[in-house]
Amino acid sequence: MQHRIKGLSLEISFVKRFPDLSIGWRGLRLVLAFATMTIACGSACAQSTAHLEPSLLLGAAWYPEQWPESRWDEDLALMEAAHLHVVRIGGFAWSRMEPAEGQYDLDWLERAIRMADRHHIAVVLGTPTDAPPAWLTSAHPETLRTDANGQRAVHGGRRQFNYADPHYRIFCARIADRMAQRFGHDPNVIGWQIGNEFTDESFDPSTTRQFQAWLQQRFGTLDALNRDWATAYCSQTYDRWDEITLPTGGGNPGLLLEHRHFVSDTWRDFQHVQVEAIRSHADKRQFITTNLGGLGWSDNFDHYEINRELDLASWDEYVGQGHLNVARNGAMHDLVRGWRRANFWVMETQPGSVNWAPVNTTLDRGETRAMVWQAIGHGADAVLYWQWRSALNGQEQYHGAIAGPDGTPLPLYAEVQQTGNDFERAAQALAGTTPQAQVALLHSYDSRWAIDFQPHNRNYDQLEVLLGYYAPLREERLTVDIVGADAPLEAYKLVLAPSLNVISAELAARLLAYVQHGGHLVLGARSGMKDEHNALNVQRQPGPLVEALGGRVEQFYALEAPVPVSGALGTGTAAIWAEQLSTRGNDTEVLLRYGKSNGWLDGQPAMISRRVGKGSISYLGAVLDPALMRSVLQKVSTDANLQPEFGPLPENVELCRRVAPDRIIYILINHGATAVEIALPTAMQDVLHDSNVVTKAVLEPQGVAVLKTDVQSTATPKGKQE
Ligand code: GAL
Repeated sequence: MQHRIKGLSLEISFVKRFPDLSIGWRGLRLVLAFATMTIACGSACAQSTAHLEPSLLLGAAWYPEQWPESRWDEDLALMEAAHLHVVRIGGFAWSRMEPAEGQYDLDWLERAIRMADRHHIAVVLGTPTDAPPAWLTSAHPETLRTDANGQRAVHGGRRQFNYADPHYRIFCARIADRMAQRFGHDPNVIGWQIGNEFTDESFDPSTTRQFQAWLQQRFGTLDALNRDWATAYCSQTYDRWDEITLPTGGGNPGLLLEHRHFVSDTWRDFQHVQVEAIRSHADKRQFITTNLGGLGWSDNFDHYEINRELDLASWDEYVGQGHLNVARNGAMHDLVRGWRRANFWVMETQPGSVNWAPVNTTLDRGETRAMVWQAIGHGADAVLYWQWRSALNGQEQYHGAIAGPDGTPLPLYAEVQQTGNDFERAAQALAGTTPQAQVALLHSYDSRWAIDFQPHNRNYDQLEVLLGYYAPLREERLTVDIVGADAPLEAYKLVLAPSLNVISAELAARLLAYVQHGGHLVLGARSGMKDEHNALNVQRQPGPLVEALGGRVEQFYALEAPVPVSGALGTGTAAIWAEQLSTRGNDTEVLLRYGKSNGWLDGQPAMISRRVGKGSISYLGAVLDPALMRSVLQKVSTDANLQPEFGPLPENVELCRRVAPDRIIYILINHGATAVEIALPTAMQDVLHDSNVVTKAVLEPQGVAVLKTDVQSTATPKGKQE
């Protein structure tokens, strides 16, 4: 209800803002989308982005400060003609906004915002704190960061600042405050982005002292720290807090894990001063986000922690070399959606190509559009290209853009225009919808760090392991949530934890409660080895869940060569990692066993399962080949009573599903090189083609269909796999 009210009041402001848009798509489709905006996301509602308008936005990063003002109007007219609805500006323009300490010039930014408004393009304002001006860092060198080798950064790139430096934060707070005072009520500013892709920490003496104070606060006493880190090992015992240094390489696993927590908290605090400055002036309708980089999978800090106080999660989605890896990219969108368990934005994506890959391949014709629709299918409400127009100088001259250095459209422009047109057609249907999953994969930064500090087999790639679970579920056309280990689980029929290495007593209790109430939990290899201090769980794996499982890991093995595996769930191999399992009682079933291998594993259980309460716990102690993994997942999905979401599909066709209380939207994307025809399980409206009612979808290579069906009319899909 609350969202409806917000939606309606925004509708009014939107109409006020764009009075000439009451006809045509912007006036009709978007206002309708607005008015019908309700959120269909169950528990995700609390963190929904329902206040954003319209429901789908296409846009670009635009850097007006790099171009003569006389040119802006033409750029914006070209954007408008391409159906771009939003620009992100200001992000790196600190030296233009504050040319000298304390002298602010935001007039040009105001003019850019007004001009965008005249072209019906909304604005996201970036705070420029990723790129401090030369006057700042030369007068205050302590604001520059120091790398792990003790080298202080220099001016001339970006990210040269020290994220922990209190002086730097004062400068950041001031510029954010100035911007928010000026634009916090600007009707054409819809949101804020703090900084840009938080990346590098600092290893200077002042940050070290902060780390020591942070540890003191966390542990209280050195006795507690020494106990939890088991520092009796190798005389690592600390007698004074100032003996503890920032780890620059290896070290005690407890120290390494706490350093990651410190880095996460420090980035969060860095962000917080700006969030606070903006919130103290800005209208509530203006969202605050930060664009997280590292291709989604980066883990230099805890992304859940960073997103906690933001209104919206956003990330920068790039392919780099080659072409779209459908499963990996889809999984990254789902991971990002899990950061706040709500729809999100793609704040940057590549218009064709990047400039930083070993080979900067250009996406095939149509692939850029297909990629955008994949993002929407997985829960993005906006996609922005980086960037609108090639900068004349700077370090990114070769990067893909929509307009060339001369300001005229590049070949990709037409495809962008088509995508913008799609958005306008689909905005109403997609308003208030979100992906809804019956199955979740658990993901935890603590576990990722713990494994990566000591991989034991350098080929153990946690992303690949996760995709080993994710891809077969997606092949079964299931929507998958990837959520933090502390997320509410009640809504899921099946929860899979591919490498949940760190399981504290508290987490174990939550998982057990989930299972007792009827959930089905599958723990993957390496689960439950560590406690929250990154110390070994004394019960062996899966730590505090050994008893509930009725079995445990006797020993783990880094594999040189694949090992045969077979049992009730199929036949195949394990590679890279295998754990020898044991069962305690007759009520723990052995589902898979190893074949002849190193002697230790021969004939031993590889996967076991036990019914607990109304649900079950299973443990899969190996990294299986894709075919066997598929059959394992089919079995656990069936046991968990997962419902099919659509009928069978040709290879390379991806299905995404977004739902609202009154409708389901299916997005079908043909990532393959040949055209396909798909018979639909029921008649649907073809949203991109005047909502004609269709019973089949014809998809060209890179083709997309957006299909709508009313919830009442949804029949049980026919022809689903047995
Ligand atoms: C991102 C960055 C952008 C731009 C882009 C190029 O990491 O946020 O500013 O540099 O890469 O691909």
